[in-house]
Amino acid sequence: MKIAPSLLAADYGKFASESKRAERSGGDWLHLDIMDGHFVPNISFGPNVVSAIRPNVKMFFDVHLMCAQPETLIESFVSAGANQLTIHCELGDKIPDLIWRIRQLNCKVGLALNPPTHITAVEPYLDKIDLLLVMTVNPGFGGQKFMQECLPKVQKAWDWRMQRGLGYRIQVDGGVEVNTAAECARMGADTFVSGTGLFSKRNMKNAITTMRETVEKNRRRQ
Ligand code: DX5
Ligand code: ZN
Repeated sequence: MKIAPSLLAADYGKFASESKRAERSGGDWLHLDIMDGHFVPNISFGPNVVSAIRPNVKMFFDVHLMCAQPETLIESFVSAGANQLTIHCELGDKIPDLIWRIRQLNCKVGLALNPPTHITAVEPYLDKIDLLLVMTVNPGFGGQKFMQECLPKVQKAWDWRMQRGLGYRIQVDGGVEVNTAAECARMGADTFVSGTGLFSKRNMKNAITTMRETVEKNRRRQ
């Protein structure tokens, strides 16, 4: 299981110390949300910010590209220190080429799907990805309410993985805190992005420990 604090919920003036706080508190991955103002109605930060954060922590950099033209950004984010790039399946025909380009750069590949998108959109790519991201809010902003109706997709992703003997991780992102993380774990999620649920806590270490224990207790086994 992996817990990935999302820097989007950190103090923007203190990315260096906030990313260190996430690492010290036991976060496994650092989730970095890249928003381009087109694919989603918000702008976050770019590769220069990611490379400025990189020397501060050893954590795996899980970069979530909410961008309409990721092809123009892949190389910059890999050079900036991304360990994984997640692209959105809503980009349609571009997906096979994007997956290939990311792999060429020795970077892990994630594929995300938004709440309104049917899970069959990701089916052709399941044997080509390292992670499937089931969005549990409409992307663009932190601090939104978890959408229960996305949970059956997590279940389906787990069933497919088992039936097909595949190894992709199943990640959830949006409104994930200790209670909703437990629900996701019961459906089969193994990778938990949490922004507000962790960064808003004075004691992030406690929050991560509690989330980890709760998820472990509720983990789907079959
Ligand atoms: C939403 C982003 C999330 C966001 C989650 O567009 O993809 O990663 O940071 O934030 P919370 O956990 O606050 O919903
Ligand atoms: Zn995200």
